[in-house]
Amino acid sequence: MTIASRAKKVTTHTLQEMKQGGEKITMLTSYDYSLARLVDSAGIDVILVGDSASNVMAGNDTTIPITLDHMIYHAQCVEKAVDRALVVVDMPFGSYQGDSKNALDSAIRIMKETGGHAVKLEGGIEIIDSIKRIMTAGIPVMGHLGLTPQSIYKFGTYTVRAKEELEATKLLNDAKALEEAGCFSIVFEKIPAELAKKVTEELTIPTIGIGAGAECDGQVLVLHDMLGMTKDFSPRFLRRYADLGEIIDSAVKKYIIDVRSSDFPNENERY
Ligand code: KIV
Repeated sequence: MTIASRAKKVTTHTLQEMKQGGEKITMLTSYDYSLARLVDSAGIDVILVGDSASNVMAGNDTTIPITLDHMIYHAQCVEKAVDRALVVVDMPFGSYQGDSKNALDSAIRIMKETGGHAVKLEGGIEIIDSIKRIMTAGIPVMGHLGLTPQSIYKFGTYTVRAKEELEATKLLNDAKALEEAGCFSIVFEKIPAELAKKVTEELTIPTIGIGAGAECDGQVLVLHDMLGMTKDFSPRFLRRYADLGEIIDSAVKKYIIDVRSSDFPNENERY
């Protein structure tokens, strides 16, 4: 029996044990009740209520506009659906940077109002005070380094991060600082696989990669991307496990034809 299959409820300790036992951690995003229910019952280890909801749910170009109230709403919907997975909630842009008291207040709201199990923040040493202050309330924190989409206007593009030595060294130092501060895990987004491997080996906490190669301790994808519901987004790291876009398109077209031709509803579909 694996560590994951033994866990009736996944906790931050389960993830730590999985790293130690060499078992890969699975993580996907969810933002609503119906899909979170399916994802949880399929056996995922971690559900991330990502601020990618800003793009996927609200149609924004970036994650910057999503608010703390929006994130709390999505997390409430997800939390009601989940029996087993660890639910991690993204702290949105503006809810934790530069003011550790604001960070603590935001994290407490998330935990109190949603029933989520942990929060995720983007950044390294520059947000360490916020991370430490959140932890004073006993709230588990997941870090996020590499491509951090809340800083898109600083980076200018969504291209791979930390390819140059200076940025790679900063990432390694940031990862160590996050571990030392007490983060239970770190997401690495869009960084070279070699760097992700090296940092993963140097850390004792689990790393979760997205576009960071196979040597991270786990992997995460945005659910709507891997299900083929977001057609205009196809980075190299994305594997599509279904083409729900096609399935939905043909189902909706069939429904339109059936209604227009009075084929739906039929004798058995009425009262
Ligand atoms: O918001 C999100 O979906 C994320 C993942 C890309 C890790 O942060």
